Amino acid sequence: MQIIEQVSTIRQTVQELRCKGKRIGLVPTMGALHEGHLQLLRTSVQENDITICSIFVNPTQFNNPDDYKLYPRMLEQDIALLKTVGCDYLFAPTAQEVYPQQQYLQFSFGKLEAVMEGEHRPGHFNGVATIVGKLFNFVQPHKAYFGQKDLQQVAIVRQLVHGLSFDLELVCYPIIREEDGLAMSSRNKRLNEKQRMLAPNLYKALQLAQSQLQAKPLQQIKEEVAAFLEPLEEVELEYFEFADSYTMQPVQSLQEGQELALCIAAYVGPVRLIDNLIVNLN
Ligand code: PAJ
Repeated sequence: MQIIEQVSTIRQTVQELRCKGKRIGLVPTMGALHEGHLQLLRTSVQENDITICSIFVNPTQFNNPDDYKLYPRMLEQDIALLKTVGCDYLFAPTAQEVYPQQQYLQFSFGKLEAVMEGEHRPGHFNGVATIVGKLFNFVQPHKAYFGQKDLQQVAIVRQLVHGLSFDLELVCYPIIREEDGLAMSSRNKRLNEKQRMLAPNLYKALQLAQSQLQAKPLQQIKEEVAAFLEPLEEVELEYFEFADSYTMQPVQSLQEGQELALCIAAYVGPVRLIDNLIVNLN
């Protein structure tokens, strides 16, 4: 696996590969790789001639300075993992390389960023769109792989691709979980033992809500989710929402044929975690 740090080098490498007719898959990450990332990478390796993984802890998408500072960084371990899945190139630039000048560009995603992650993390999706747009320009992939774990991010990237006419296919991969149901996340590494024991309750809350869908009004289910998490010390619910899985807009009542996303964000100790579950209503 070749490691590239310079934007000019990745551009040139990709140009040469494209001239040879190679199909390129991109898996953008912020590192501290886990099985969720590795599944995206394995899928890309299967579906493309060349797989490029990017690792860049993107400062512009962190609305909380502590979250940025404490975000796990473990490049050596990541490199070893990337080699096990057959990744061809790692693009791991510095912040100076990606942002040589101050960033003023502002995106607007309308209603899509007014809810859930957009509402609770001001500026977050502007930073995500900026870095993902840059990566698409640097790497010019035929396919780009994202996880359902960050469902609203997928919707934002979809809108970015349509809005700026990027010539690529987006792939959304299902959520990979630990055995106890906790959605894998680099931030799980920051949980202490007790918090790690509590964290699967987010998924339990989603399952609880799903089991009540046909029986109770959505508002009542929301209240029950809040009541389920309330007694748990160190767990603080930020939001639980029923949303359309494509538009991410809140859903007030169930409709046949709908793809409903149950979305949750909560702090477990100091660590903010998100999770979701998609239900097809027949
Ligand atoms: P990061 O959190 O490192 O995630 C990289 C990709 O892996 C994202 O598309 C994310 O949705 C996916 N992923 C994370 N956990 C997963 C899980 N348990 N199962 C399946 N997929 C999972 O998301 C980002 O980085 C950044 O915002 C990025 C897109 C790289 C832009 O900076």
